[in-house]
Amino acid sequence: MSKIRLKGANLLAPLPVVMVSSGDMKNSDIITVAWTGIVCSSPPRVYISVRRDRYSYQLIKDSGEFVINFTTANLLAACDWCGVRSGRDYDKFAEMNLAKGKANTVSAPLIEESPVNIECKVFQVVPLGSHDMFLADVLAVDVDESLTDDNGAIDYSKVNLVSYQHGEYYSTGRHLGRFGFSAQRKYISAYGKGKNAMSNSPLTRRRRPKRKK
Ligand SMILES: Cc1cc2nc3c(=O)[nH]c(=O)nc-3n(C[C@H](O)[C@H](O)[C@H](O)COP(=O)(O)O)c2cc1C
Repeated sequence: MSKIRLKGANLLAPLPVVMVSSGDMKNSDIITVAWTGIVCSSPPRVYISVRRDRYSYQLIKDSGEFVINFTTANLLAACDWCGVRSGRDYDKFAEMNLAKGKANTVSAPLIEESPVNIECKVFQVVPLGSHDMFLADVLAVDVDESLTDDNGAIDYSKVNLVSYQHGEYYSTGRHLGRFGFSAQRKYISAYGKGKNAMSNSPLTRRRRPKRKK
């Protein structure tokens, strides 16, 4: 594979794109955020990075709380709009016709229409340059019942989440495997190991065009 070398840039992909709600049930905002992720398993901790000039920034800084709301394909237009308009000029819940829900552990409201809401409490703010990183504990997660199995695990194949890749939104698509699948004996004996295993598997094997009779 021949490659070109680019200068250092933030091309890491795919990223989640989420709607972060903050404030309280009266005064609130929603900011679209792609600079977000998990930073620790136990205790569960996440981050969001926010520019200081965002309206949401001060709400989050003052309250020390926010909710990460997952973006589904159905919510994408609302999510994108919240990322190009400011809460200084608009009540985004009202403009996007989104229902403000009460969270269980934080005063920040959650977005009812979003199937997964992650309630977060900030424990550290790290100035990084263009953005400040809010590091936060996950206090609770609210999940649409119809998306969970008997153990409460989320069936992501039903959620239709959106990912963000350098200015473009993508559907997260098909389920391809479960954590650790490539090391299972059954899988290896059926499809092999390493770089050829996926192309041998029916999940990614290209369908041969049907022959005309
Ligand atoms: C896809 C997408 C991702 C974004 N990611 C971030 C981000 O990670 N951090 C940030 O500060 N702004 C991000 N923005 C920009 C803010 O969402 C945008 O400036 C928004 O209008 C700020 O709203 P506010 O002034 O009500 O807080 C993103 C926008 C879009 C469309």
